[in-house]
Amino acid sequence: MYQDGHKPIVPQRNFRLSQPQPVKPFLEVLSGNRQSVPPVWMMRQAGRYLPEYRELRATAGSFLDLCFNPEWAAEVTLQPIRRFRFDAAIIFSDILVIPHALGREVRFEAGEGPRLDPLDTPEKIHTLATAADFTKLEPVYEALRRVRSALDPKVALIGFCGAPWTVATYMVAGQGTPDQAPARMLAYRAPDAFAKIIDVLVENSIQYLLRQLKAGADALQIFDTWAGVLPPREFQRWSVEPTRRIVEGVRAKAPHAKIIGFPRGAGAQLPRYVEQTKVDGVSIDWTAEPSLIREQVQSRVAVQGNLDPLALIAGGDALDRAIDAALTSYASGRYIFNLGHGIQPETPIAHVEQMLKRVRAYKG
Ligand code: CP3
Repeated sequence: MYQDGHKPIVPQRNFRLSQPQPVKPFLEVLSGNRQSVPPVWMMRQAGRYLPEYRELRATAGSFLDLCFNPEWAAEVTLQPIRRFRFDAAIIFSDILVIPHALGREVRFEAGEGPRLDPLDTPEKIHTLATAADFTKLEPVYEALRRVRSALDPKVALIGFCGAPWTVATYMVAGQGTPDQAPARMLAYRAPDAFAKIIDVLVENSIQYLLRQLKAGADALQIFDTWAGVLPPREFQRWSVEPTRRIVEGVRAKAPHAKIIGFPRGAGAQLPRYVEQTKVDGVSIDWTAEPSLIREQVQSRVAVQGNLDPLALIAGGDALDRAIDAALTSYASGRYIFNLGHGIQPETPIAHVEQMLKRVRAYKG
């Protein structure tokens, strides 16, 4: 027992020691054990490139209605696993459910992406709730429980949240913008007010991730999609430091939690990011420099990535060459095959099949 009366959260596989649990190759890599065939999954693997997703989506009402219906969310999470037998499922939800649980209005406009009430002045930030209403997120935990019980025990289940910086960029601007200038500007002009948003997101993300572990997530991913727009000093303050606090906060209650960071666009700052945040793995985008990653990142943690989603759309020889380049660069170390960012809706399913066949034929 911990001082505050909470029991530490132990990964499920340690519960029944008499009954050996099947090995999950994805978790093995995060624990430091390279697999001869790299485990594989795809960022945004449940989504519009799948006809079965589009069919359910058309009947579900709004995107958040889909996220908050445990039966539908579980079904959509499992669709790509049934079709492609990926080594990991990621729970179907969104990073913007946290602002929603903090009482901000969040909508997803068809074809336009997310829309929120902009939180763009110190006065408005002053009124931001400090604690999320976690009952609003109950359907996400229920979906996790359903997926875990339906999933092959060799397949890992990933829970996630957005990194505070990336979530804050949408909260401040009220939408996605090409370079998230509104949040960058606010962070320069009113750093104390901006720090309040970040602090609220750090604390609530810790609670949210711990609840996802409790509901059956085997690993967690922290998506910092907009890390790459920050200069080094701001990257340290708004991306590295909040992520470090989340990892520390989660591990204080769940010491064995496996956590992957995705600071998209971090480039040469990746070694510092992994060293300071203490993540178990890092997802890299397709612009990463292989020698830097091998020598200064993969030497410390597992690496996940980094096929260009456009190569997956292109298919043919271009796709084979891109897959081989990723395998040659990273598969000799602890490696999880993935895309460098989310799969795009226009991606042909046959190209995903071509990718899986080639990755699984890898002999290394
Ligand atoms: O399959 C999975 O990966 C799990 C589900 C998932 C979604 N969003 C579903 C989704 C995950 C992990 C996310 C993360 C997410 N959401 C990120 C970080 C990762 C990344 O891709 O950069 C970000 C920045 C968001 C915010 C967000 N949600 C945006 C900008 C958009 C609009 C752009 C788009 O892709 O449509 C969304 C909507 C969204 N989230 C969709 C899905 C399947 C599409 C909505 C629909 O189907 O109508």
